[in-house]
Amino acid sequence: MRRYNAVSSCLVYKRGFLDIAPAPDTYIRLFQLCKHYQEGEISRLVLQNASAQIRCGEFVAILGKSGSGKSTLLNLISGIDQVDSGEIWFDDQNLTAMSDYRRTIFRRMNTGFIFQFFNLIPTLTVWENTILPLELRGKPDRQGLERAESLLAEVGLISRRNTFPDRLSGGEQQRVALARALVHNPQLVLADEPTGNLDEETGKQVLDLLDRLTRQSGKNLIMVTHSNEAAKYSDRVLLLRDGKLEPIEIL
Ligand SMILES: Nc1ncnc2c1ncn2[C@@H]1O[C@H](COP(=O)(O)OP(=O)(O)O)[C@@H](O)[C@H]1O
Ligand SMILES: [Mg+2]
Repeated sequence: MRRYNAVSSCLVYKRGFLDIAPAPDTYIRLFQLCKHYQEGEISRLVLQNASAQIRCGEFVAILGKSGSGKSTLLNLISGIDQVDSGEIWFDDQNLTAMSDYRRTIFRRMNTGFIFQFFNLIPTLTVWENTILPLELRGKPDRQGLERAESLLAEVGLISRRNTFPDRLSGGEQQRVALARALVHNPQLVLADEPTGNLDEETGKQVLDLLDRLTRQSGKNLIMVTHSNEAAKYSDRVLLLRDGKLEPIEIL
């Protein structure tokens, strides 16, 4: 788990970037994020001062109606897309101030992504899909390959390592995607409706695995979902509404 950097966070506060002092074990700080999309004449404001703080090792679910900006928010946190204004901090590192190149490197090192439609590469085998994040960082070392093997075993697919994705069920594909998201040992996993395309029972298996492989090993998980049942797995639920994040309780 990452260590809180007391000195730098203090500096951040003094420089006036935050409206409130961060809690001592904060890992991610989203500060007044704004994002709009322009389509011809029409400007659509999706995020309007969305703010949140996420502690080390926390599993946070983000609920919101379709079109409320959940995927947009995940794309900003992952560094795939850029904010109009506002800041995203990981410990003492300001993602929103990084160059495109540094942001890409930061993402490859620190973030894993899981999508609703799995997004496995059809021309690569289960094994090749799993080790892709290692290859993007250079030649995989022995430790990385061992981690890939143990993750594939953990998700129950080691015997399918030479299979192509189109031979797998949806649940199996998502389990490969899970191993792929974790293979480079990122601190943060972002999951965009990871059970949205699975039946209830399969979705539950994927959530159990996701929970075990992230929160229970000190990683952060931010999961976007439509489902209250899925959100119940999390430590805390935030609702994205009118471009802002607000804490909610679900029963
Ligand atoms: N690249 C884009 N260009 C224009 N509009 C977009 C783009 N991506 C998303 N949007 C719009 O932004 C809003 C939020 O989209 P999205 O973040 O995908 O919502 P959600 O994931 O909550 O369903 C929607 O109205 C969507 O149509
Ligand atoms: Mg979405």
